[in-house]
Amino acid sequence: MHITSAEIRSKYLEFFKSKNHAVIPSASLVPENDPSVLFNTAGMQPLIPYLLGERHPSGVRLADVQKCVRTGDIDDVGDDTHLTFFEMLGNWSLGDYFKADSIAWSWEFLTDKKWLALDPRMISVTVFEGDENAPRDEESATIWKSLGMPTDRIAYLPVEDNWWAAGPTGPCGPDTEIFYYMGEGLPPAGSNKGTDSKMWMEIWNNVFMQYNRVDEKTLVNLPAQCVDTGMGLERCTVTLNHMKSVYETDSFAPVLARIREIVGESNYNEKSARIIADHTRAATHMIADGVVPKNVDQGYILRRLIRRAIREFYKMGYEQAILSEISRMYIAQFEGIYESVKMNKEKILEELKREEEKFGKTLKDGINQLRKIVQKKKFNDECYLEDKFPKSKEQIDLIRLNEFSGYDAFNLFETYWFPIEMVEEELSHNFANYGLQKPMTVGKEDFYEAFQKHQELSRTASEGKFKWGLADSWVETTALHTACHLMLAGLRKVLGDHVHQAGSNITSERLRFDFTHGEKVNPEQLKAVEDYVNEAISARSTMVMTEMDKAEAQRTGVSGSFWEKYPDIVKIYTMTGANGTVYTRELCGGPHVETSEGMGVFKIQKEEASSAGVRRIKAVLVK
Ligand code: ALA
Repeated sequence: MHITSAEIRSKYLEFFKSKNHAVIPSASLVPENDPSVLFNTAGMQPLIPYLLGERHPSGVRLADVQKCVRTGDIDDVGDDTHLTFFEMLGNWSLGDYFKADSIAWSWEFLTDKKWLALDPRMISVTVFEGDENAPRDEESATIWKSLGMPTDRIAYLPVEDNWWAAGPTGPCGPDTEIFYYMGEGLPPAGSNKGTDSKMWMEIWNNVFMQYNRVDEKTLVNLPAQCVDTGMGLERCTVTLNHMKSVYETDSFAPVLARIREIVGESNYNEKSARIIADHTRAATHMIADGVVPKNVDQGYILRRLIRRAIREFYKMGYEQAILSEISRMYIAQFEGIYESVKMNKEKILEELKREEEKFGKTLKDGINQLRKIVQKKKFNDECYLEDKFPKSKEQIDLIRLNEFSGYDAFNLFETYWFPIEMVEEELSHNFANYGLQKPMTVGKEDFYEAFQKHQELSRTASEGKFKWGLADSWVETTALHTACHLMLAGLRKVLGDHVHQAGSNITSERLRFDFTHGEKVNPEQLKAVEDYVNEAISARSTMVMTEMDKAEAQRTGVSGSFWEKYPDIVKIYTMTGANGTVYTRELCGGPHVETSEGMGVFKIQKEEASSAGVRRIKAVLVK
């Protein structure tokens, strides 16, 4: 049997439609109004407000395929299972069904002949063993048994395995996870995830979201019991086709074959090719969702992925711009599935080309720098040798004759993204180009020491990003989000209707808002926008949400961007002053403050160019 990822995607959605779920479009990879993460890392991330109790316009049963990016394990990319970009199939109950239906439907979808028809004997599950926060999940175990799951295929595992949360605070709960046996033949009696961890591959996770972690010590009940499930599409494709690696699946196999063709059989390296395939796929989707290569935030991750991919090509001896050709294969795969890819085809190819050119220049600068360092080292070694005094072995060890310093190699890496493999390559094969008589070695240990220190530092910095708690700064963030709407309305009033939102990023301290406008906004105009927002705030305005048909909303001139990201029924947020003035009316997913009271005073701190035809404003609310 061979089943394609496209078939799995559509079967999944069809199945949940048959169980009365509304299919909603994938949200952008870049979270809106959630500064705690750079990218959506799970299907539930865009749904957090609804798990916390807000009403979703499409109802209480949802299903989707969500684009996700996880970069925590980026160094493992190239093995059989790790990917940076992946698609997560998910179904949700927002206070509707709970454990019994959720488990029964997963079982039906996986094993029923009409759907995936997996052999039930190849499946095992885990449930939460219980702790001081929540009881042992006998309820789920009993449901599994009633569906025919043998007792010895059910493992009770602790919080590290069977409790799920997106971050340190927010909705969370115990889960039941479903695994497929990866060994030959049937799994032996008694084998399960608890006894035989390596043999079982996780294919689906059903989280019973019933708590909200407010802080480290406090767990409160959510307004309603919810279900959040996630099934990685790529892993599911591997399992169903009895493959060993995600790179054998239909999304990657043709790309690897093409890379082999491009670099030639004798230069081909499987790990390099896998990294290129993964990173280009992720970069394609990131650009489709509006990210451009930069030195900060999402843009930095994108830049890193692109440059790593180029370097892998270099390592295989291929030094021409080629990523857009690889990306084209992914565009063809995904344009029928994600509107964002279809709409931004040209932009994706352009950004990749531009970054390749930039990186090409950077690498050339790196080579020049390398040459300078080598010459200096050569000169120092010569001076040392010409000096007539006899030298002890210790002295020679200390000077490390003919060794390129690992610290210099690290600086080249940090400044010019110049990989140590390329330093080695240059100094072992192309040494003559550097005026050397023989190859020069590289101090790899020092390099790795410096590299590890750097990794630790950047990990600490990125963990800092997760410290933001949903609960603590929820109020501030929500108020700034409402201020964004008022500001957009103000900008349109002052500058004209050509102004549209081009992007936004909100933390609990400030808002950053990009909008379309061709020139600098002058101080008087900025003042007028500020006044508009502050007038709305002091008019004791209230925000009201209404739902309507997307087509009707578009017809009646509701302002909004990214319409394609919204479901057929959309939410419109209207803020009206006690004086009756409508200050803003905009398409949005929420959340917003209910009243303007307590929002504070709106202050624009900075206005600058963001990219061609796009301006950026940073602003705060002062209490
Ligand atoms: N949110 C759960 C996960 O990502 C389903 O595994």
